[in-house]
Amino acid sequence: MTRKTSRRRFVQQLGLAGAAIALPAASYSRVLGANEKLRVASVGTGGKGWSDLQGVAASPAVEVVALCNIDSSAPHLGRAAETYPAARTYADYRKLLDKSDDIDGVIVSTPDFMHAPVSLSAMDLGKHIFCQKPLTHTVKEARDMKLAADKKNLVTQMGNQIQSHSAYRTAVALVHAGKIGKVKEVHSWQSGQPTWPRNIDRPAGSDPVPTTVAWDLWQGVAPHRPYKSGLYHPFNWRGWQDYGTGQLGDFGCHILDPVFKSLELTAPLELTAEAPPIKPETWTDKATVYYLFPGTSRTAGDTIKVTWYDAAGVRPPAEAVTTLPKSAELPGAGSILIGEKGTLIIPHVAMPKLYLNGEETEAKYDVVDGVDHYVQWADACRGADATTSAFDYSGPLTETVLLGTVGIRFPGQKLKWDAEKMTIPGFSQAEPYLTKEYAKGWI
Ligand SMILES: NC(=O)c1ccc[n+]([C@@H]2O[C@H](COP(=O)([O-])OP(=O)(O)OC[C@H]3O[C@@H](n4cnc5c(N)ncnc54)[C@H](O)[C@@H]3O)[C@@H](O)[C@H]2O)c1
Repeated sequence: MTRKTSRRRFVQQLGLAGAAIALPAASYSRVLGANEKLRVASVGTGGKGWSDLQGVAASPAVEVVALCNIDSSAPHLGRAAETYPAARTYADYRKLLDKSDDIDGVIVSTPDFMHAPVSLSAMDLGKHIFCQKPLTHTVKEARDMKLAADKKNLVTQMGNQIQSHSAYRTAVALVHAGKIGKVKEVHSWQSGQPTWPRNIDRPAGSDPVPTTVAWDLWQGVAPHRPYKSGLYHPFNWRGWQDYGTGQLGDFGCHILDPVFKSLELTAPLELTAEAPPIKPETWTDKATVYYLFPGTSRTAGDTIKVTWYDAAGVRPPAEAVTTLPKSAELPGAGSILIGEKGTLIIPHVAMPKLYLNGEETEAKYDVVDGVDHYVQWADACRGADATTSAFDYSGPLTETVLLGTVGIRFPGQKLKWDAEKMTIPGFSQAEPYLTKEYAKGWI
């Protein structure tokens, strides 16, 4: 059996096997001695991947052994190769994994649509994973990532690094300390105007592929199409449904993270989105998603509403924030948690603001120190404390965010969610958008 076949079977088997056959980490990955280095590879070494790589490599216990990028130019592969001259370099992550006996962990910083293919292949080989947010491109992939990490007992971390900042950690601690009491409702928003292509059709024709770019490798598991300069690689892939997840996908795993963490939310029961009709291939830049979650020990009722808004200049409606004094300014992005005893504003990214009993005074609170999100993963791979955004946490968070992007395709339609069966009871038309076909030749 070839390795490619075995990787495909691994992914196919996940849904059947699940966590039931979890094995000790030692069964799959190397157990590191106190003086041994964690040997790391980076896939997607430009853009955010450059700071991911530097973040992990900041640990003195890390050795960078391999680098992969489909673009050999300086900002993508070149700079990383120059900084880590001892590391092997690749354009194709499959070739990197085919020669990976000396690799313990892989950093995955590609565009969203390649997170799962790269990570699942690496997990099949027993590699620990640091993967960018959103964890995946589809809901099904997010479930597969969680199951794979469970099954192989690997150390994982999603790259929602703001979770580890003092600001978000303090906000979570305030809710857990009961400062605002049980939480009754939440509003989260992102008012920035995206710069990526949106609400457009695919332009005709093609442009010459730069000599540094392997366009077929960039497209990977996605349906293949002609290269167009400045439309996809780098960065602008975010606006295209085949590659990115739009504004909610881009920011939801950051902004909804302290909401999830503090309220200990699980899968939503249902959601309804409001959004203009989307074009066949791009995302919109204006959406509201009304989520309903089961209540938790941190919430006031049996259920809790969490509403997401994204649009240029958007804020939650005034009637939703009557517990705040008129002087309170809402940040451009963040969340408001309305509790039985007070209200918490969690700006993205700044220190939280606490308002108690409707008083127009900001209360004082204890600040929680930040931790290093990257070194936390490297240390956990070497046997230290667990990571805080492991896939058993970040998988369900990503599923929720991506369910919202499914809802955006069906404005006004209530989508009930059966998380266990991964079905949308009563509206099966939406179910095809929970997953996708991979291009032939990939896992
Ligand atoms: N956590 C954060 O704050 C944050 C910030 C920005 C981006 N991101 C996430 O990081 C990821 C990358 O975003 P970006 O803005 O850096 O994108 P980008 O397009 O600017 O950079 C992606 C890099 O990966 C390379 N690449 C693309 N496909 C590859 C493949 N198959 N194999 C190897 N290399 C490949 C590209 O050449 C480029 O160097 C996305 O998932 C994004 O959501 C997270």
